[in-house]
Amino acid sequence: MGDLFEKCGRFTTVRDLLAAGVYPYFRAIGESEATQVVIEGRRLIMAGSNNYLGLTHHPHVLEAARKAIQRFGSGCTGSRFLNGTLSLHEELEARLAKFMRREAALVFSTGFQTNLGIISALVGRNDVVYCDGENHASIIDGCRLSFGEVKKFKHNDMEHLERLLAEGENGEGGRLIVVDGVFSMLGDLADLPRICSLARRYGARVLVDEAHSIGVLGENGRGSAEHFGVEGRVDLVMGTFSKTFASIGGFVAGPEEVIDYIKHHARSMIFSASIPPASTAAVIAALDVLEREPARRVRVMQNAEFMREGLRELGFETGPGVSAIVPILVGERMATFRLWRELFDEGVFTNPVTSPAVPPGKDLIRTSYMASHTPDQLESVLEAFERAGRRLGILSPRAVLRPARPRAKRPGGRLEATLGRAKISWSRWLETWKNGASRFRDFTVFPRSPSRGRRGRDGR
Ligand SMILES: Cc1ncc(COP(=O)(O)O)c(C=O)c1O
Repeated sequence: MGDLFEKCGRFTTVRDLLAAGVYPYFRAIGESEATQVVIEGRRLIMAGSNNYLGLTHHPHVLEAARKAIQRFGSGCTGSRFLNGTLSLHEELEARLAKFMRREAALVFSTGFQTNLGIISALVGRNDVVYCDGENHASIIDGCRLSFGEVKKFKHNDMEHLERLLAEGENGEGGRLIVVDGVFSMLGDLADLPRICSLARRYGARVLVDEAHSIGVLGENGRGSAEHFGVEGRVDLVMGTFSKTFASIGGFVAGPEEVIDYIKHHARSMIFSASIPPASTAAVIAALDVLEREPARRVRVMQNAEFMREGLRELGFETGPGVSAIVPILVGERMATFRLWRELFDEGVFTNPVTSPAVPPGKDLIRTSYMASHTPDQLESVLEAFERAGRRLGILSPRAVLRPARPRAKRPGGRLEATLGRAKISWSRWLETWKNGASRFRDFTVFPRSPSRGRRGRDGR
């Protein structure tokens, strides 16, 4: 008979990463001002938080949390089902239903539990759930918990989804298609218009996880369904309070009788204590700010776009995303940890993401931005990436063609460079770069037409 604990002794990954000085996880934050944190006594720019509108330190949110503690105490000490429902929870549900333009809403203690609860409650024995391969772990686990059949389709591959739907056309049970509105690692969007059309054609219901899109996408910040103009064709939406809403918890919104069914069948809600008063009041206050200050939503997208463009100009690959999440695709696991470490040492907090959160070999550094990041902070993050990328030699040669900021479009045409004092052709410089001789040092790049781009700067 084997020893259950034997695998723990064989698990050496953490020790290996610690020995290499690149173990990135569970770093304790000593102090936080949202866009800046103190870790191990050092101040870092936070470029890895989901605090999209920057509301964790908003005075209105903090005041609401303080008042709720005074009125209700520190915790609910029970489930919503029994002793843990506060008038605050009901107020929040009414506000969310109104904001999301749905008949009803139901609040859970975390976003993770929300997905577990919705899917396991709704998808019964004869039902089928269609799940994008890159959906969040809470959706995947919700599918696993359900008694129905789970069919995974390739990420955003509508032909594959249609094939799966067509295969089971004669099934007796109901069908649910579930997707992240914004995928949490790449920041790309689900193809909701086509998903909704397929759902209609094949008689399926649609559930969209708006965790990373509420407050960020759509004219009123209602998320990806609003962004695509398909709210009327999405049956259920869920969201978390741990991102834009600057708190903790989650919710589902949709038709009243469906919400009522989930309320009485979702085990992850019924058998777990409800969100504490301060956290609930913080969400209500965050919703006030979201509705009153639409400029924050515009700002977070501008900041993310600035970073996406800046990183691309440097030569990093940032993938197909259009949200507040900007991934830097690295590919190899150890290279990802090394880049993370360099950035950390440069004073920038980011998140390294490796398998199973992304497919093997598609490791990345996930950055995400806030409405409250200042232009100076964003510039500093770009500069840190530039220095880190150079030191590690992972920037492509194109990277050095970036004109000095404020950035113009990359100049076209023939380019010349100097190596030390000698003027050399671009191809020669490229050759030396490839051989590792010049590495990003001792060069200057001149765009062909000074009128179209500013003169390049010294690469040091
Ligand atoms: C897409 C998505 N859904 C659900 C969750 C779970 O939310 P929470 O962290 O609030 O439990 C997350 C969290 O990262 C997420 O990214």
